[in-house]
Amino acid sequence: MSHHPESAPSPATAPPVTIPMLQAWRAEGRRIVMVTAYDAAMARLVDPLVDVILVGDSVGNVCLGFDTTLPVSMAMMNHHVEAVARSRPRALLVADMPFLSFHLDLPDTIRNAGGLLQRGAAAVKLEGGAARVPAVRALVECEIPVMGHLGLTPQSVNAMGGFKVQGRAVEAARRLLDDAKRLEDAGCFSLVLEGIPAELGGRITQALGIPTIGIGAGPDCSGQVLVLHDLLGLLPGRKAKFVRTYVDGYGLLQAGLSAYAEDVRAGRFPGPAESYALPEAVRAALD
Ligand code: KIV
Repeated sequence: MSHHPESAPSPATAPPVTIPMLQAWRAEGRRIVMVTAYDAAMARLVDPLVDVILVGDSVGNVCLGFDTTLPVSMAMMNHHVEAVARSRPRALLVADMPFLSFHLDLPDTIRNAGGLLQRGAAAVKLEGGAARVPAVRALVECEIPVMGHLGLTPQSVNAMGGFKVQGRAVEAARRLLDDAKRLEDAGCFSLVLEGIPAELGGRITQALGIPTIGIGAGPDCSGQVLVLHDLLGLLPGRKAKFVRTYVDGYGLLQAGLSAYAEDVRAGRFPGPAESYALPEAVRAALD
């Protein structure tokens, strides 16, 4: 077996990913790969290839048919976190805290986040800047690791007046830099930066000691995240500028389904290979 210090171990054979590993990778300049997954089948698909699996509240748009993430509840998140956790991923499992699950009071926030850990998540993610510092501090004090999320935070869609790139004006860019530092000081182990100018993503990353994970925040973050269904091309229609679609998943799956439908209609499915034979003796007795 060769041991090249530069080459990372193959994720399939690597040990479970931990938060200290992410911190070390950031220091070494090894980029972190994160994707979303919402069920056990998809978690098994992605686990050998990625470092972090996020059960995002994007489950609301992607799987549950909502237009925004606002209707996603703790019950929904718990259900999907349990499903992903049953696949026993080696990737670090991070669970999103949905809208209103960390805004009311600290005991409620701690119970909601703790419930996600009790269901198998290793950490929680929550959206927002300086206003979230008390919640982050309270969670970290309870040994609940927190990933922050700044920029185009989808739970703020109404306050932002739509899904708009953030941090394009001087004051807004300064506020994001300041928020990022405050969240790091409050104890976040990592930050998602979403929908901000690439240069600002780089500046925030440089200003922090913790890893940043970008989505529409340019190439200079410590890692990247995409919604799995976006990168696999499973959601045809309009896509955000920051999405790269790596495979026409929708087209491939439609081709498979259409071949199945044609085979059923033509009587070609099932064939002998997909059918059970009646034992000879039973056939003779029935004749
Ligand atoms: O909910 C989600 O999927 C997210 C990522 C897009 C960062 O928050």
